[in-house]
Amino acid sequence: MSYSLVRPLLFRLDAERAHHLTLQALQAAYLSGLSRLMPQPPACRTRRVMGLDFPNPVGLAAGLDKNGAYIDALAELGFGFLEVGTVTPRPQPGNPQPRLFRIPEAQGVINRFGFNNDGVDALVANVQRANYRGILGINIGKNFDTPIENATEDYLICLRKVYAHASYITVNISSPNTKNLRQLQDKEALEGLLRALKQEQAALADTHGKYVPIALKIAPDLVTEQIVEIADLLLAHRIDAVIATNTTLSREGVEGMPNATETGGLSGAPVRTKSTAVIKQLSLALGKDLPIIGVGGILEGIDAQEKIMAGASLVQLYSGLVYRGPALVHEACAALG
Ligand SMILES: Cc1cc2nc3c(=O)[nH]c(=O)nc-3n(C[C@H](O)[C@H](O)[C@H](O)COP(=O)(O)O)c2cc1C
Repeated sequence: MSYSLVRPLLFRLDAERAHHLTLQALQAAYLSGLSRLMPQPPACRTRRVMGLDFPNPVGLAAGLDKNGAYIDALAELGFGFLEVGTVTPRPQPGNPQPRLFRIPEAQGVINRFGFNNDGVDALVANVQRANYRGILGINIGKNFDTPIENATEDYLICLRKVYAHASYITVNISSPNTKNLRQLQDKEALEGLLRALKQEQAALADTHGKYVPIALKIAPDLVTEQIVEIADLLLAHRIDAVIATNTTLSREGVEGMPNATETGGLSGAPVRTKSTAVIKQLSLALGKDLPIIGVGGILEGIDAQEKIMAGASLVQLYSGLVYRGPALVHEACAALG
């Protein structure tokens, strides 16, 4: 069934309820074998990034499948890679509902979920149960009640637990919905965090006999000086990739629209220009030495092309799925060839 027929029905529901219903429908389609009848993505050039071979450059961004509970169902949509999480060491409920809002006039979404998840052990169990053998990123974070000074320990706990099960691991320091998290983007804090992560990665690579790349996910709300500072640290610590960007605290482009004043991170079309600008600045600072995964506001094939032209090697999307449905995956893939 075409998504344009389903969308008006979903948009009548509370956004979080629509989100769960959609995931359950995808799961039912997978379990019944129906999803195998869906069209396959157009043939795409494979990309080698972070030492991994991506069958196509269009990935699912973090946050849609926080617990890795829908991996097999989501894999049927034709993504070249999936990223699950953000997951934290201990389970936590996240913020009270409502915490997810659409801004249809601007093709935007605001969320303040606050890392609701079942904890890293539950995610690992789900990943182990999945049949998916494609590229899987696992995105890790800190619990809301871990003091920011102890954040490194939360990331290390998650890193150790997910290491054997991930193709790459994303360190999320850019969600606006966990108090003070974005402070980890500051030079001194980031330096300490990256050093600890690289040290642990080396030890884990020895133990497991496999090197799992680490990507850092950053916010769009950074000035040039901060972006250059982060780029320098990424190179100095030999981090494997950077994901740009997370959601924005800005309300540019949605002022006066229903839901625009809700607290949280704004994504979808309104974050597109900001994300692409960060990618361009990162690309200038990083050259070809460190790959960028571009995310933020991809709602059409041309938006994916723009991210690649700005310097990204791969792209991810989330909010575009809310407005365009799964056809967007194939469209972005076709646009990137
Ligand atoms: C409802 C929602 C939940 C999200 N949760 C997470 C998350 O848990 N971890 C994360 O790194 N990013 C999360 N994101 C950010 C997305 O991964 C992405 O970086 C951002 O939305 C910009 O891309 P988009 O415009 O294609 O949505 C979330 C986004 C949305 C809309």
